[in-house]
Amino acid sequence: MTTTDTATTDSAAAEALVGRMFGAALGAAELYTIYLGDIHGLYRAIGDAGPTTATELADRTGLDHRYLVEWLQSQAISGLLTIDGTDVWTDRYELAPGIRETLLDPANPFFAGGLAAILPAVGHAFPQLVEAFRTGAGVPYAAYGQEAVIAQEALNRPAYANSLIAEWVPAVPGLHDVLSRGARVADLGTGAGWSAIELAKAYPAVRVDGYDNDEDSITRARRNAAEQGVADRVDFEVRDITAIAAGGTPYDVVTFFECLHDFAHPVEALTAAREALAPGGSVIVMDERADEVLAAPGDEVQRFLAAASVIWCTPQGRVDEDSEVVGTMLRPDRLRQLAGRAGFGTVDVLPIDHPFWRFYRLTP
Ligand SMILES: C[S@@+](CC[C@H](N)C(=O)[O-])C[C@H]1O[C@@H](n2cnc3c(N)ncnc32)[C@H](O)[C@@H]1O
Repeated sequence: MTTTDTATTDSAAAEALVGRMFGAALGAAELYTIYLGDIHGLYRAIGDAGPTTATELADRTGLDHRYLVEWLQSQAISGLLTIDGTDVWTDRYELAPGIRETLLDPANPFFAGGLAAILPAVGHAFPQLVEAFRTGAGVPYAAYGQEAVIAQEALNRPAYANSLIAEWVPAVPGLHDVLSRGARVADLGTGAGWSAIELAKAYPAVRVDGYDNDEDSITRARRNAAEQGVADRVDFEVRDITAIAAGGTPYDVVTFFECLHDFAHPVEALTAAREALAPGGSVIVMDERADEVLAAPGDEVQRFLAAASVIWCTPQGRVDEDSEVVGTMLRPDRLRQLAGRAGFGTVDVLPIDHPFWRFYRLTP
């Protein structure tokens, strides 16, 4: 290969990479504007009012007019709002098609508001993350601020609301019958509690205990259960996963919804789950659909998971000095190995097709 060939090849690759990085920067900038619109209730205010000027929006929300003009302009240029003219100060804005589903209804299958909260959450923790690369320390979930819980809740609730009962439970042999009879369920790493709440709503004889070591998450979970009318059958407690067996309640079903890979001590967590099982009980794990074997470069899902592992899951799981956190790239072989060390005899991959998650059933 001549010098010229090398230069040509490199500049083509560099140009493609610049395009990709610009696209990512554009996406990040837009996500910040979306998050501002979301936390200030701007999409909701426009959706409720119909065609709205900047002045009317300022009156309605009590927010600063000058900032709103700038925000409205950005949303119109990004195609997230429509504008009925070209004067950003006086013309009227409306929600673009798709905004109601993606940003106004948190249980809608298309709701995507959680994606916008990831950036401010990582922003809170970023100085600690930079330092952690030098020290090897963990970065606690709480360091990611309230936005972390907002993001987590918003990201997964649509799937629990739309798929958990309708698609996932029927795909686990016998689970519907067990739940219908009135099972005791422990939902570990429950976060804001939506998996526990949806199970209780669908199965009136079920009792669920949700555990998480994050206080903010449990506060939200309790509020969510009360609002959904299931607080009498769903109990949420701040507790480290490894201590669940201490309660002495035997559980027919123990669930780990997208959390095992985050735990500092996954084997201990699985061991605690096994010890808490009633005879004949089983553990259901939903975790990331990391490729079975590393593929590099990977597709967009694998890229997202791998990046999330660097900025989110691995630092959060390293909070204990002797942490054995897996990180986001939990592959089936690793899960089998962890389950084996925790004393499980069988690990079945369940026939549930999802772009981000893989499902397993573990039996002692
Ligand atoms: C990715 S979130 C998943 C939350 C929830 N299951 C969902 O799907 O939205 C992981 C959760 O695990 C919790 N967690 C991490 N380590 C824990 C531990 N040792 N004991 C209890 N909860 C833990 C975090 O607080 C967080 O709420």
